[in-house]
Amino acid sequence: MELNSLSQGKWWGDDCLRHVDGFWLLPQFVEPIDRVIKHFRPLPSDIILASLPKTGTTWLKSLLFAIVHRSSKHRLAMKNPHELVPTLEVQVYTASDEPLTTNPCSTHRIFSTHIPYQLLAETLDSSDCRIVYVTRNPKDTLVSTWHFVNKWKKAEKEPWPLEVAADKFCDGLIPCGPYYDHVMGYKKLSWEKPNKLFFITYEELMSDPISHVKKLAEFLGCPFEGDDEEGQIEEVVKCCSFRVLSEHEVNKSEESPAWFQLPYNSFFRKGAVGDHKNYLSDEIIEHIDALTIEKFHSVGFMY
Ligand code: A3P
Repeated sequence: MELNSLSQGKWWGDDCLRHVDGFWLLPQFVEPIDRVIKHFRPLPSDIILASLPKTGTTWLKSLLFAIVHRSSKHRLAMKNPHELVPTLEVQVYTASDEPLTTNPCSTHRIFSTHIPYQLLAETLDSSDCRIVYVTRNPKDTLVSTWHFVNKWKKAEKEPWPLEVAADKFCDGLIPCGPYYDHVMGYKKLSWEKPNKLFFITYEELMSDPISHVKKLAEFLGCPFEGDDEEGQIEEVVKCCSFRVLSEHEVNKSEESPAWFQLPYNSFFRKGAVGDHKNYLSDEIIEHIDALTIEKFHSVGFMY
């Protein structure tokens, strides 16, 4: 993919996203994404977590890790979830066609990606790997994205106005967006192949973590068993909760990882459902609700 030949869309300040097959990508990830599409061959035992940024990726990374590894409390206290479950286009296929890490000691390798299904379909369909997709209501996703972007160095001088962020979101201009197309790509796959893709929303998980973690473990082929099944699930939910995870020194750190420009603590802000009500005007809320009806409800996804 030749970066300069791709059309551009203004996103934040002078920063532009690049248009690739209907999706908007951050320029620094165009080549790594191309490498993932061309070279990543998932094993049947692989678990792929797919999501849009700011929809609950960090939470699901910790949950998948804890479900697969069980006695993971200590490791989750020592390492940020993004170090335990690497993102294909950010940490694995960064500079060459050969993957950097493959977490080989595990029976299940767990990777994450923000690449839309429409771009990764051939890769994902070529293997019996399992996919977990997490999404979040568009208004909270927008507000979380807006906060996150405003933590970037450049925003100190030039903060990103929320009204601009909302306009861009509604026009589909977010990294790996449009939001609605990204979600529907994976949602349709979950309808067609429920045994291949587990689709969960941030809000469902927040409202009943125990039963969703139980279902997730069954889907992954690692069900909780024995007399203490309930206790084991409670332990996983607790050690991956916002309250517990965000208190670990590693997740409070102001240090930035080698693979990202923001500190580890930027992945933990508030961790709540409905925070958009504290930020978005009635007009923006109505506009996004109308878009949700048009893009989701019209095709049978009642989110
Ligand atoms: P807020 O900005 O609304 O607080 P991602 O991991 O996809 O980048 O998403 C980040 C969002 O998930 C942030 O939302 C962050 O605070 C929240 N988050 C991180 N860890 C979480 C956890 N363990 N439980 C619930 N939410 C979490």
